[in-house]
Parts: sequence; structure tokens; C-alpha cells
Amino acid sequence: MANVIAIANQKGGVGKTTTAINLAGALAEQGYRIVCVDMDAQANLTVGLGINLGTVQQSMADVLAESRATFQDVVIPTQTMGIDVAPSTLELASTEVELFTAIGREHALRGALQGWAQRHYDYVLIDCPPTLGLLTINGLVAANSVIIPVQTQYYALKGLTALVRVVAQIRAKGLNRDLRVLGLLPTFYDSRTILGREMLEELRELGDHHVFKSIIKQTIRLGEAPLAGRPVTAYAGGSEAARAFRELAREVIDLG
Ligand SMILES: Nc1ncnc2c1ncn2[C@@H]1O[C@H](COP(=O)(O)OP(=O)(O)O)[C@@H](O)[C@H]1O
Ligand SMILES: [Mg+2]
Repeated sequence: MANVIAIANQKGGVGKTTTAINLAGALAEQGYRIVCVDMDAQANLTVGLGINLGTVQQSMADVLAESRATFQDVVIPTQTMGIDVAPSTLELASTEVELFTAIGREHALRGALQGWAQRHYDYVLIDCPPTLGLLTINGLVAANSVIIPVQTQYYALKGLTALVRVVAQIRAKGLNRDLRVLGLLPTFYDSRTILGREMLEELRELGDHHVFKSIIKQTIRLGEAPLAGRPVTAYAGGSEAARAFRELAREVIDLG
């Protein structure tokens, strides 16, 4: 059975999509089979894995809304060996609205992953949109665990409380009793700034959640990643960023 990991934070620009692409890259290097699931209508994950949106015929929008397609129907290979993607398109924005009236709406993604995807992949990485709406909830209900990237360049802990509360509600309401926070991932870290160092310290002192030892630093390497269409482990394998994501992959594997 696949290990299903959601990557969530309702704030935009904290490194969710970057984490999905590059954790996938580091896991693929280890020989694992991964599918990245794009749950954001902005489709940054899909594009970041080198897919031309013009060629996408069916997307997660078709999977989630009235099951116009199965998950297997929409999955396409990427140019990186071992990584497939379940693409998104702008259409996914209206899917969230459609889901509002659907029966079993919180379980749509979980249901879609059952069977083929669960058997076919070692890891399913779900890139959630920057909201706490139904698409993110679908991601959390479908997942075994959630990675929360936290930007260490501004005071980000307030938003964290809201997300952690949603995770607790999903467990309490029985939507996904086993959902666990795998860890908080410090991103955009800049050791030269006081705020960066303070944020990192504060994250570790929170104590409620595991904080990954791997820290993703602010680096041009990752800023240019969306243009590369591949994980940093593939296009700059010797970089510090690539090493950081390999360490993260190691931690994720060890956490089970
Ligand atoms: N560690 C980093 N250093 C520099 N730029 C980064 C880093 N992580 C992400 N970026 C860039 O910042 C932008 C937002 O990151 P992204 O992963 O798309 O965030 P999210 O998915 O949370 O909105 C993207 O352009 C990405 O390339
Ligand atoms: Mg994103």
C-alpha cells in the first residue's frame, strides 16, 4: 500500500509545491515510485514537473467532480524517472464549488486513490492549495500524514494553529482518524537574519510537533526550479538544496 502524504499550509508561497516536487525527486532517486497529485488550480506542481498545460486533456478536476475520469485515467509520466503526476488545470477552481453539493465530498480524493494508485505507487504526494477549503480537506482525508512547510522569514505560527485545528477536527469527526502531522518543515531559511534564526528556534520550542532536522534554505536554485521542469535533485544534483531534500527523504522514509 502506498504511503500517502499531504503537503499543506493555507498560506501561499511557503514552499508546498517546491517540497512536493523535490521530495518526489529525492524519493525517486532511491528507486521509489511516486505520483504527485496537484490539488491547486494554479497548477504549479504540474508545470513544475515539466508538463505543458496545453497537452493536459483530463485533470484532477475530472477525477473529483462526478468522477468523469478515474485517477489512473489522468495520471501522466513526467520527464523524471519514477515520478508521475496527476495534473491540475484552472478548472479545479470550479471543482471546489461542485464538491460543496456532493455526497461524501470530503472523501472524493481518498476514494479516487483506492485500488490502482494504492497498489501502483510507494508514495502519493498531495500538493494542497493555499486554502483550508474542501480541496485541502480532501487532501488531508486521503493522507496518512501531513508535512507542513513553514516559512521562517516571517512570523508564521498563527496560521499554523488554524491548520493544526483542522487536522484535529478531521480526526475527531472520524473523517480520517489516523491522520498524523509527520512534521513541520522549515523553509526559506536564512541563517543571516535574526528573524530566521528566531523562527527556527520558536518552531522547535513549540514542542507539539516533530520539526524536521532537514532545513530548506532560501536559495536561487529553488527559485529557478519552476523553469527547470524537473526536481533540483535532477538538474542540480550536487547543490545544497538537493542534499537538503535527500535528507528530508531519508527522514520521511525513517518516519514510515
Ligand atoms: N527555499 C527556497 N528558496 C528560494 N525560492 C524558493 C524556495 N522555495 C520555494 N521558492 C520559490 O518561491 C515560490 C513559492 O514557492 P511554492 O513552492 O510555489 O510555494 P507554495 O506552493 O506554498 O505556494 C516559487 O516561485 C518557488 O520557486
Ligand atoms: Mg503551491
